[in-house]
Amino acid sequence: MIDDSNFLQQEQTVNLIPHTSQLIPQIAVVGAGTMGNGIAHVFAQARFAVTLIDVNVQQLDKAIQTISKNLDRQVAKGSLTENDKATTLNNIIIETDLSLGVKDAVLVIEAATENTELKLRIFKQLDEAAPKSAILATNTSSISITKIAAATSRPAQVIGMHFMNPVPVMKLVEIINGYATTKEVTDTIVGFTRQLGKVSCVVNDYPGFIANRILMPMINEAIYSLYEGVAGVEAIDNIMKLGMAHPMGPLQLADFIGLDICLSIMNVLYQGFGNQKYAPCPLLVNIVAAGNLGVKSGEGFYAYSAGRKELVVSERFMKFL
Ligand code: CAA
Repeated sequence: MIDDSNFLQQEQTVNLIPHTSQLIPQIAVVGAGTMGNGIAHVFAQARFAVTLIDVNVQQLDKAIQTISKNLDRQVAKGSLTENDKATTLNNIIIETDLSLGVKDAVLVIEAATENTELKLRIFKQLDEAAPKSAILATNTSSISITKIAAATSRPAQVIGMHFMNPVPVMKLVEIINGYATTKEVTDTIVGFTRQLGKVSCVVNDYPGFIANRILMPMINEAIYSLYEGVAGVEAIDNIMKLGMAHPMGPLQLADFIGLDICLSIMNVLYQGFGNQKYAPCPLLVNIVAAGNLGVKSGEGFYAYSAGRKELVVSERFMKFL
């Protein structure tokens, strides 16, 4: 188990210490996609030594480029200096070998593809390769922490650390206690979250936790409203943006999250609670089956093209306007 007080003491001395220093807590992030690169970014910016791990070296290179671009945004806004940017990038190393990447970690955060079998496999491997004292966290948005923990020999040290996209911007980390997670482990993770300048909310492990148990039915209801012809894409999104002060309407947010992810979370809620109120809207099922997954595929409720900033409703949904 990590001694948090000792760790806090170490953190105050790390500013100019290079990445290789043993004084800096080593954080390993598994998976270099959108969430993984965001998590690596915020830990590195908070002066942790980060190892970003992915089997795909191109994905790792792309992640570093994305982090660099996102740091540029912060420099342009004046919230970071060029020096901070260089230090942040210097705090990240990349690795394709999972066992090597986690061997000195005090905390491993898994942010791989949202697939139960894959996560169970990764956690078995992490359990074998990470130090016995390391905490193993998952950024899963809906897979049971208890189930993931049961794949390891240290379920008391397994926890959910659910970051929100875009990670450098969103203040929340939803911390999810599995059935066996100890209070010491939760407190340590709350401490790490505070050091990132983020706010933690601790919840228990039931389907969708809190964030997605509340967010996804709202998105699903917005899709039902479109499906039933109650209103068009823009009206639905503007009502929630202008009437409820949401930064994005629910359909734009669904595109941003990924429609396949939204569908898979609705299925977790539906199966987990066995309640019809969580049944995914047939339009959501269809749009995913057609391969329209939102921003990442170029089309969802809106159509996206490189360099275009304004929102354009997908042709498919124009008839509702
Ligand atoms: N890295 C760093 N900074 C970024 C960034 C990134 N990837 N993306 C945006 N920013 C910064 C911008 O530089 C800007 O900074 P300032 O406030 O200092 O000017 C700020 O964020 C706002 O960005 P923009 O002006 O470019 O655009 P915007 O005002 O439209 O905001 C947004 C973009 C922050 C994404 C905003 O639309 C928003 O908050 N949307 C909702 C996001 C949300 O709900 N996320 C949760 C999704 S659910 C989830 O992640 C969990 C799950 O399990 C499904």
